[in-house]
Amino acid sequence: MRIFSGIRPTGNIHIGNYLGAVKQWIELQEKNECVFCIVDMHAVTTPYDPKEMKKNILEAASIYLAAGVNPDKSIIFVQSDVREHVELAWLLGAITPMGELSRMTQFKEKSKQHKDYINAGLFNYPVLMAADIMLYKTQAVPVGKDQEQHVELTRTIARKFNQKFGQTFPEPEAILPKAGAKIMSLQNPKKKMSKTDESKSYISLFDTEEEIEKKIMSATTDSGKGVIYNVTKKPGISNLLTIYSLLDGRTIQEIEKEFKGKGYGDFKKSLAKVLINYLEPFRRKQKELLTREVYVQEILNKGKSRAEVIAKTTMQEVKEKMGLTS
Ligand code: TYM
Repeated sequence: MRIFSGIRPTGNIHIGNYLGAVKQWIELQEKNECVFCIVDMHAVTTPYDPKEMKKNILEAASIYLAAGVNPDKSIIFVQSDVREHVELAWLLGAITPMGELSRMTQFKEKSKQHKDYINAGLFNYPVLMAADIMLYKTQAVPVGKDQEQHVELTRTIARKFNQKFGQTFPEPEAILPKAGAKIMSLQNPKKKMSKTDESKSYISLFDTEEEIEKKIMSATTDSGKGVIYNVTKKPGISNLLTIYSLLDGRTIQEIEKEFKGKGYGDFKKSLAKVLINYLEPFRRKQKELLTREVYVQEILNKGKSRAEVIAKTTMQEVKEKMGLTS
């Protein structure tokens, strides 16, 4: 299968991004042809600092590598390096109904969050995402729950294209992890963990030991006692249990058993330790990779060349089918 996925290089990539998306990539790359993108052109649709972009791109690349994406096998590249993404997005925009775009939850949420920055790019965001996916004739897209709607829209766009211009694209499916598809904020467990919220609401993959401890100890828990999984009655503890179980490899029931009769404090201390140990290689690898910028850049250059071969072939076919070749 051809797989495509990506992350916006906005800095502060967190354990939600890792557990919802990247962790799946590592398993999928064993048996599939994977394309992993750093989607910088999506990152410009919300407020950002141009001076930080290069650093954020390299940081995203170092996360992919630290998590275990194998650059000899999978393609790792930067979206703006392959111009066919925008070219295809424009063409797909011509067959995407405005009504569909205005229904998108992420557009509604982000325009509420950045009231003075509601731009056409934010509205068209899902069309560029569809282009990312379709350019590689992708069959499956490993993402977290919040991106499922965009993949669903991509299916609609692919179907429309095929009907209008002849069979060209597969209808891609979203792959969601069984657990961890929606990691919640540490401060408000009814809201998803998000890079744009205050920093104590998420654990970044590069947080220091002290930061991890502080954030976990101050995470919102629920009234009452008992380390018990119950999303409606105990959303805070349930979210922490999910994180614990995904990192530690044991089931939630096994962890509940270990903490039977113990308080939230003991549980949180132990979770902080699990997180510190799990994320140690990320901190180490990041330090190492940031001093080897040339090496990371070489990987991205090689990824660009490999991605371009596929992108150009698809674009040629699309232009022919749409009557745009001279
Ligand atoms: P982004 O950068 O917001 O998030 C990257 C990935 O992390 C997942 N994710 C989460 N998973 C679980 N719990 C959470 N709290 C959580 N927050 C984020 C997201 O679902 C995503 O998989 N539009 C995309 C980037 C993109 C893309 C693509 C993805 C652009 N083109 C093509 C797949 C295919 C985005 O903004 O992700």
